[in-house]
Amino acid sequence: MIRKRILSGMQPSGPLHLGNYFGALRNWVSLQEEYDCFYFIADWHSLTTLYEDPHMIKKYTREVAIDWLSSGIDPEKSTLFVQSRIPEHAELHLILSMVVPVPWLERNPTYKEKQQEIKSVDMSSYGFLGYPVLQTADIVLYNAHYVPVGIDQAPHLELSREIVRRFNGLYKKKVFIEPVAKISDTPKLNGTDGRKMSKSYNNAIYLSDSEKDITKKIKSMLTDPQRARREDPGDPDVCNLYPFHKLYSPLDMQKEIDRDCRTAAIGCGDCKMKLTESVLAGMAPQMERRREISGKPKLVDEILAEGTKKAQRVARATLEKAKAAMKF
Ligand code: TRP
Ligand code: SF4
Repeated sequence: MIRKRILSGMQPSGPLHLGNYFGALRNWVSLQEEYDCFYFIADWHSLTTLYEDPHMIKKYTREVAIDWLSSGIDPEKSTLFVQSRIPEHAELHLILSMVVPVPWLERNPTYKEKQQEIKSVDMSSYGFLGYPVLQTADIVLYNAHYVPVGIDQAPHLELSREIVRRFNGLYKKKVFIEPVAKISDTPKLNGTDGRKMSKSYNNAIYLSDSEKDITKKIKSMLTDPQRARREDPGDPDVCNLYPFHKLYSPLDMQKEIDRDCRTAAIGCGDCKMKLTESVLAGMAPQMERRREISGKPKLVDEILAEGTKKAQRVARATLEKAKAAMKF
């Protein structure tokens, strides 16, 4: 049986944290069982925000790959590669950019949002406007049926579908497949301070954190802000810590904490100690695999080289098909 193809990418803008894991990576791992998965590191995309000082991208690319492998992405099942090592992405991006009307891109909600949100760097570049065009090239080069992404990426996928229809319509040939977004429902997980977990807020728990780091970070976590004193009852429904219990603690412990928190039978300090135990137990397999991988320094490069070789064959064939349809 031929398995349907999945493709997705992540920007190497830093080491991955638990938000990335529960928001995407965990899902990617389980998709491997059912689909022919292509996962890539979108290092050209990360230039849209890091172009002033791109030197970290190389390091992050490696770190993200290690995060993937430690989390159970299996190179025997999935094809792992690096975007910029496959120039076909750039070539197809250029070709697509000739047929995509600029107003389609200006209408893109993430374009406007990010421009307002990101103040540390000038986001008025030509490349950033074309971000979804490059993303479309990434997807269609591999004839991907499904693209697992967060809900924030839904407008990009819609745009990809429009671009595919426009290209296929212009050249009267079904060259590209219209990709379908596979939106994962992601549990709400905030950072240690209660804001969205993010590298730039300095509130993230990383997959690469040591047991000591994790213990320290959990200790510092914001809990129910209304619970000022030990005697005050708390509310797990508004507590920033409780969602982590939901992901890492056994059900009976969750129930116990929910009950005891509301009657002030348990204090936040004890609750954090329990959480630390649960998180460390839950992350133990990832930590173990990371240790194994770091003992084989060439392994990651070999996996990425192998995956890139395989991916490039697919990309080249699709690009040739596109040029043939254009009679170019
Ligand atoms: N835009 C995606 C993100 O920031 C990353 C990405 C680039 C991607 N190209 C892609 C995701 C192609 C899916 C498919 O999360
Ligand atoms: Fe949150 Fe636990 Fe404190 Fe309750 S006891 S407020 S769930 S940290």
